[in-house]
Amino acid sequence: MRMVDLIRKKRTGGELSEAEIRSIISGIVSGEIPDYQTAAWAMAVCFTGMSDEETAALTMAMAHSGDVVDLSAIRGVKVDKHSTGGVGDKTTLILAPLVAACGVRVAKMSGRGLGHTGGTIDKLESIAGFRTELSREAFFAQVNEIGAAVIGQSGNIAPADKKLYALRDVTGTVDSIPLIASSVMSKKIAAGADAILLDVKYGSGAFMKTAEDAIRLAQAMVAIGTQVGRETVAAISDMDQPLGRFVGNALEVLEAIEVLRGEGPDDLRELCLALGAHMLVLGRRAADPESARARLAEALASGAALRKLGAMIAAQGGDPAVTERPELLPAAPNRIPVLSETDGYVHGIDAEAVGVAAMRLGAGRAAKDDAIDHAVGIELAAKRGDFVQRGGTLAYLHARADDASAGEARSRLLATYRLAAEPPASLPLLYAVVT
Ligand code: URA
Repeated sequence: MRMVDLIRKKRTGGELSEAEIRSIISGIVSGEIPDYQTAAWAMAVCFTGMSDEETAALTMAMAHSGDVVDLSAIRGVKVDKHSTGGVGDKTTLILAPLVAACGVRVAKMSGRGLGHTGGTIDKLESIAGFRTELSREAFFAQVNEIGAAVIGQSGNIAPADKKLYALRDVTGTVDSIPLIASSVMSKKIAAGADAILLDVKYGSGAFMKTAEDAIRLAQAMVAIGTQVGRETVAAISDMDQPLGRFVGNALEVLEAIEVLRGEGPDDLRELCLALGAHMLVLGRRAADPESARARLAEALASGAALRKLGAMIAAQGGDPAVTERPELLPAAPNRIPVLSETDGYVHGIDAEAVGVAAMRLGAGRAAKDDAIDHAVGIELAAKRGDFVQRGGTLAYLHARADDASAGEARSRLLATYRLAAEPPASLPLLYAVVT
């Protein structure tokens, strides 16, 4: 069938066959299908949706549009973890060593930050000497020996998704559950793990603004995983304020080390224990999330998880002493308080706006090739539920200078805090788990 007929079929609510979807994806990758037809088709999907079978077929066609990583050289069940994006989300830095200390193998490829969201690879590169590019052999050997490795995405993973996503981004067609679900899952499947834990965020800093939409996205992704034989579990978690207290690369590594030392903020530790428990169950290292949680807590208390992070850092060329002396991490010369202009309880902190403020300080990129400053970022002194007095400290800027960019970040931060006279209702950090 010609592409125009496939667009019309989709637009009028028809169901595309697996062969038709494969031909669309191969035409997108080869360039045979022009961008305007791809965009028209994506718009038709946005309006009419896709069945579970179509979504699974699209996922597999995109997963096989480039390299599919074969992790069979790594022994045991390999569990991947993916977050749909957030601000202050340093869970991978904690979870990879934590679950590896409990016997789960994590062979993880991560990305760099763009816009208001940070990237795990940028965070790890704030550790002097840390190498995020390893050969496949070195990557596999490290996971077999230590249990975990986190590297940058290499090779040609899901090029069809790359092309389709770039078009969706400029044609108003990102917000479609089957398109988002197939985009995320195609990359996870191509990355080769046996089982996948998804952390689907909802709230001001997330793609999905409500918990209900996040659940629908999670259900679509779990359905794909089930259809294609990769066990998938999705947790739905709050991103209505940044996770933890720090946003910025070295600052987030510092906070991850605090959690691995058994310290750190409650929300971050709780989320890591909840996500890690599901990873242990997926990796066949625990029978249920409750017993898994006890094992994780023990790995934190005994120092095994922190030692595992040290081993990962050493294996990837960094100085493991940073786990004992986090002051070795790069630090900004100034810590500038942002003072509240009113009294009140914090009801919310717009996570996306905090991410943008951190980016403006230099912690993130506005464009793909921008340089970043690992030392700078934001420290949230007050979070939801805290009472702040007029003149009290809401946050600190970790900045190079108290100049115009710090001034702009300060005004942005002030605007992100929603304060009210009454305390807010408490919201669960983990809203639901979809299996
Ligand atoms: N993240 C992805 O990888 N793909 C989407 O479509 C949206 C978010």
